[in-house]
Amino acid sequence: MTRLDGHVSLITGAGSGIGAATARRMAEAGAAVALVGRTPEPLYRLASEIARRGGRALALPADVARPEQIDAAFAATVEAFGRLDSTVANAGIQLHRRDVPLHDLPEDAWDETHAINLRGVFLTCRAALRQMLKQNDGGSIVIVSSVTALAGIAPQNPAYTASKGGLIALGRALAVQYGPSNIRCNVVCPGALEATPDFEEHPDPEGRQRRMSAQIPLGRLGRFDEIAPFIVLLASKDASYATGGVFTIDGGLTAR
Ligand SMILES: NC(=O)c1ccc[n+]([C@@H]2O[C@H](COP(=O)([O-])OP(=O)(O)OC[C@H]3O[C@@H](n4cnc5c(N)ncnc54)[C@H](OP(=O)(O)O)[C@@H]3O)[C@@H](O)[C@H]2O)c1
Repeated sequence: MTRLDGHVSLITGAGSGIGAATARRMAEAGAAVALVGRTPEPLYRLASEIARRGGRALALPADVARPEQIDAAFAATVEAFGRLDSTVANAGIQLHRRDVPLHDLPEDAWDETHAINLRGVFLTCRAALRQMLKQNDGGSIVIVSSVTALAGIAPQNPAYTASKGGLIALGRALAVQYGPSNIRCNVVCPGALEATPDFEEHPDPEGRQRRMSAQIPLGRLGRFDEIAPFIVLLASKDASYATGGVFTIDGGLTAR
């Protein structure tokens, strides 16, 4: 793995899943990581784990849907680590029980999903861009979308699907707008993983596992630590010519 000594990254949704796996991998490579999420305990636990292994991490409880909180998290990151090199806009929710086929979809399920998955990413990217533009030496933003943005894989969750589609368009717009400032923006689309966001809400996790595994050429669901290396690569200068890309990591699901 390429060393990331001196690199500073802020990762949202860092208390669990893809975000935590990404934070661990970045910290192992030498980066200082700011860990953002709403629930404090997992962030502090992960920050201590990273520190025990000799890494640098800062737990910053914040809600990405609240501009003052996400702005404060970026300010605290720069205060602690001196700069910002990358941001992973990963926080997201999937309201398995309330995000239902469109003819029955309540407005509040649509609004809540979009407030975090799309507006939260807008607010995260805005804060990151303001800092990167101030530093005037480039940067990298990685947005975590989903294969549901590429094909009708979760038609029963239309609010989630639409929010993830919006992220691909947003990522491309940022890549074009900020390319001249050497700020890169890429989107990753993970496939079906062992646990979904808000997994405990899922009505039928075993059925999902059976159904999805049968459709995936690699024959199994993915793991969080199989997504993290791609995010770290895109955040790093090893990916210096990649911007505006949409990277699918799905065990072949969308290749069918
Ligand atoms: N797992 C999959 O199958 C899969 C597939 C494709 C894409 N993805 C995407 O990958 C990303 C990570 O999901 P995951 O699978 O790792 O699920 P996860 O473990 O539920 O992670 C989501 C994280 O986001 C945080 N979060 C949610 N709302 C937030 C908010 N308003 N402000 C700050 N943090 C917030 C959650 O912590 P708190 O609740 O404590 O805030 C949680 O740590 C999501 O964007 C998801 O859509 C997942």
